[in-house]
This record gives sequence, structure tokens and C-alpha cells, in this order.
Amino acid sequence: MTSLEDFQRKDLKMVHGYPMIYSFANNWERIEEFHSKPDDIVIATYPKSGTTWVSEIVDMVLNNGDVEKCKRDFINVKVPMLEMAVPGIRTSGVEQLEKTPSPRVVKTHLPIDLLPKSFWENNCKMIYLARNAKDVAVSYYHFDLMNNLEPLPGTWGEYLERFVTGKVAYGPWFDHVKSWWKKKEEHPILFLYYEDMKENPKQEIKKIARFLEKNLNDEVLDKIVHHTSFEIMKDNPRVNYTHLPSSVMDHSKSPFMRKGTTGDWKNYFTVAQSEKFDTIYKKEMAGTILQFRTEI
Ligand code: PPS
Repeated sequence: MTSLEDFQRKDLKMVHGYPMIYSFANNWERIEEFHSKPDDIVIATYPKSGTTWVSEIVDMVLNNGDVEKCKRDFINVKVPMLEMAVPGIRTSGVEQLEKTPSPRVVKTHLPIDLLPKSFWENNCKMIYLARNAKDVAVSYYHFDLMNNLEPLPGTWGEYLERFVTGKVAYGPWFDHVKSWWKKKEEHPILFLYYEDMKENPKQEIKKIARFLEKNLNDEVLDKIVHHTSFEIMKDNPRVNYTHLPSSVMDHSKSPFMRKGTTGDWKNYFTVAQSEKFDTIYKKEMAGTILQFRTEI
């Protein structure tokens, strides 16, 4: 008999060169052989970049800002996570997607190389949301404290060391953002930044609506801005992940909806850690025009 304990706090398992959450890593053929549909909309992110936020925005855009409709189910049911699996315990992302009516919105953290080829073949629309690496590292550290499917993060210092060397689930942040950025030269990918969404959510939501060919008036756009603000989402049980058992996500360790800000990294990085990080960052990001803001 399988029990959740078999998957808790396990070391990451390599999948085609990328460290992956242990419970997701088995039976990887389900991902490789996944059949997309041409009207699937993919939301791709490196973990902790605002995936839940943009997922709720996309759902609201597709439903013309109808708040009641958007409360029809939990975010992980409305926008299933492709690679999610806890075999024998929970409905997998693939199984959930098979039950989802079109147009399906698919959440994934997969790097370009691991995304099922069917999505490229069908020329599916994709939205990639990127967030500055320092805030991602802090958010990811807290997530690993509360998410029992991840390995324990250790101290902040230990975790940061693993983060910069890409020894965390889904591998290095640097390669992820760079390769998705490059891919948009040849594929319909709307590339967005968390920091821009924080600064001017209405403008970014408009970009999403345009990309999804939805014509929404000002009133609807304002409603979406309000409903998807951090303050509202943090208290919305459909999107704040408090519906999952504490054996999976333990919000007493750190809430999923933690701070929702830009620049929280300053509360965690020491000056020495920040300087070392900046040096590595410069080297890793040389040769790309990608620019991130670590404060707004
Ligand atoms: S996951 O587990 O990878 O899918 O997490 P993800 O949703 O990508 O990222 C979680 C972080 O996003 C913040 N968040 C938001 N910020 C601003 N506005 C809204 N509405 C919002 N919703 C979620 C969430 O708080 C996590 O960031 P931190 O910095 O930890 O607070």
C-alpha cells in the first residue's frame, strides 16, 4: 500500500538531467506522450514566480471577469499542473487535464526541453511569467519549508547555495528564464514579468486579454485587477492552497500566500550573500538582453 509518507521530504530525482520532485518523477512517459489540444493555453513559470496569480487572471479573462464562475473550483482543478503526481494518492495533473473542458489552461514549471512536444506541434499559446531571481529564491525557500513533497531546505544559507547551483526542483533559474525567453522568437509566447504585474496590473492584464483575443472593457479589467490582488487572493480559499491537507502543505510553517511583494529578498540576503549572488548572476546572464528588476 502506498502512503503519502512514501513521498514526503524525499531527495529530488533526476529526469533527463533536471532535478525533479520525487513523487512527480516516476512514469515520465505520461508527460512525454501527453496529447495537447490546439486551443490549450500553457502557463509556464519557474517555481514561485507568480504562477497562481497569473492562473487566476487567465481564468478570469476567459470568463469575462465573472467572479462567481471563477469560484467554481480550486485553482489546481481549474488550472491543473501538468507534471504533478503523487501516485496512488492524488489525481495526477495529466488525469485532471483529461477531465478538463476546453479551452484548457495548463500550468507547468517544466523547462523548454521537458515540455511535451505535442504543445509545440499544436502551436499552443503560452504565457511565461518571470520573476527576479532573488525574490524567487526567498519564496522558494519558504515554500520548501511548508511543502512536504520537497526536500527540507536546511538553513537559508544552505538553501541559497543550492539555488544558485541549480540543485533545486526544475534546475537552475538562469537556464529556465533564458531558454523560455529565446523560445519566443519562434513560438507564440507572451513573456511577462512579476514586477510589471505588481507595478501596473491593469496594463499586464490587458496584454493577457489581447493575447487570448478577449475584448474586455475597463470595468471588467478593474474587476479582474481587484479580484486577483494579493490581499484578495490570500483570503480566497479557492486559490490560497489551504484546502490541501497539512501533510502536503503546512501553512503553519509558512503560508503559500506569503508576502506577494517585490524586494523581500532584502530581508534575507546578507550583504555578502547578495554580492556573491550578483557576481554569479552577471556571469550566468551574460549574453542575454533579459532584464529583471529587484525592486520597484
Ligand atoms: S508555485 O508553487 O510555484 O506555483 O508558486 P507561485 O504561484 O508561482 O508563486 C507563489 C508566489 O507568488 C505570490 N503571489 C502573489 N503575488 C502578488 N499578487 C498575487 N495575487 C499573488 N498570488 C500569489 C505568493 O505570495 C508567492 O510569493 P512570496 O514572495 O512567497 O509571497
